[in-house]
Amino acid sequence: LRVGLLFGGRSGEHEVSINSARAIAKALSAEENTSKYEILPFYIQKDGRWLAGEAPQKVLGSGVPLLESQESTSGGLTSNPQSQTLSQWQSPSQVAEVDVWFPILHGPNGEDGTIQGLLTLMQVPFVGSGVLGSAMGMDKIAMKMAFEQAGLPQVKYKAITRAQVWSNPCVFPKLCDEIEAALGYPAFVKPANLGSSVGIAKVRSRPELEAALDNAASYDRRLIVEAGVVAREVECAVLGNDQPQASVVGEITYDSDFYDYETKYTEGKADLLIPARIPDAIVRKIQDMSLQAFAAVDAAGLARVDFFYVEATQEVLINEINTLPGFTATSMYPQLWAHSGVAFPELVDRLIQLAIE
Ligand code: ADP
Ligand code: DAL
Ligand code: MG
Repeated sequence: LRVGLLFGGRSGEHEVSINSARAIAKALSAEENTSKYEILPFYIQKDGRWLAGEAPQKVLGSGVPLLESQESTSGGLTSNPQSQTLSQWQSPSQVAEVDVWFPILHGPNGEDGTIQGLLTLMQVPFVGSGVLGSAMGMDKIAMKMAFEQAGLPQVKYKAITRAQVWSNPCVFPKLCDEIEAALGYPAFVKPANLGSSVGIAKVRSRPELEAALDNAASYDRRLIVEAGVVAREVECAVLGNDQPQASVVGEITYDSDFYDYETKYTEGKADLLIPARIPDAIVRKIQDMSLQAFAAVDAAGLARVDFFYVEATQEVLINEINTLPGFTATSMYPQLWAHSGVAFPELVDRLIQLAIE
C-alpha cells in the first residue's frame, strides 16, 4: 500500500507535526512494515503551500521546516508545479497514487476536520477521525457540550465569543463580572480551537482576566473560560473504530505553573510517568471515561484523552480529547501503547488497517 504521509501544516504546531511524521516514517520503514507499505510524503509549508516529491523527503530527513524563501532557492524547486497553495494546486501524479492517507497535522487546518473533509472528497481512506469527530474534538466548547451530554464530569466553564470581548465596551465589564461570579479565580482563558497550550492563560485577577480575554480573542472567534482545578494530569490512549480499546494510563509531571507550551516542548521540563501512580479502580474509571469521550465526539482510529485527577477527593474530571495527538517517538500516545503491549511499528500498522477496514 502507498501511504500518503501528510505533515507540516498551517498551525503553531508545525514543528511538532514534522517530528510526529519523522517517527511515523521510521515506523513504516521498520522491518515488519517495509514490505507492506511505501511512503509518499506530502509537506504543507507554514504558508499553506503543498510540496510533494523530494522536498518533503528533505524535511523528514533534517527535521527542519522548509520556509518559502528556502524552497524557492533550493535546487530549482521554484518552477516545481508541485509547490502551490492548495487552491492553485494541480495535483501532482503522486496524489493519485496514494492508497491511504496518514494525516499527522496537529491543531487548526489539520486536526479540525478541514483536511479530513478534503480527503473525504478525494474518496481515499485516511487514518483517524472524520470531519465530525475532528471538528468536535478540536473545538473546546463543542467538545465540552458533547461530554456534558454523555454525563462526563468536567470543570465549570463559560463559552464566550470574540464579539463579546471586542465589540461593545459597555458589555465587557458585565461579561467579566459574570465570569468572576460563575468561576472565581484562578481561571483558565483559552481560544476554543488551538492546541499545545497556545493562547492559554491562567488568570488570578480582573486585570489578568481582561488581558487574557483580549489575547485569546486574537487567536479565535470562540473562547472558553474554565474554573481552575488543582489536580494531577493523567492521559489515556484510545485505538480502534467501533470497538475501541483503552491503553494503560500515564501521568505528566512538571514544576511549572501549568502545562504550557514551553513546558510541553522544552527537553527536561516535563516527565511522562507510565503507568500513572493511581489506584486500579481509578485507572479503570479513566479507561471507561476515555471510551465514552471517544464515542461522544464520534472519534475514529486514535485519540488521546486527558484528565484531571484530584487526589484528595479521588475525583476524575475530563479535560479534553485530542484526535491527532503528538506522535513523536517520545510522545505520550505511542508510549502508552508501548506500555500496553503495542510497539510503535505495530501501532502505525494497526492505524492504517483501521483506516481501510
Ligand atoms: P491544549 O488543548 O492546548 O492542550 P488544555 O485545555 O489541555 O489545552 O490546557 C493546557 C494545560 O493548561 C493543561 O494541560 C493544564 O496544565 C492547564 N489547564 C487547562 N485548563 C485547566 C483547568 N481548568 N484547571 C487547571 N489547569 C488547567
Ligand atoms: N496538540 C498536541 C500535539 C497534543 O495534544 O499532543
Ligand atoms: Mg491539552
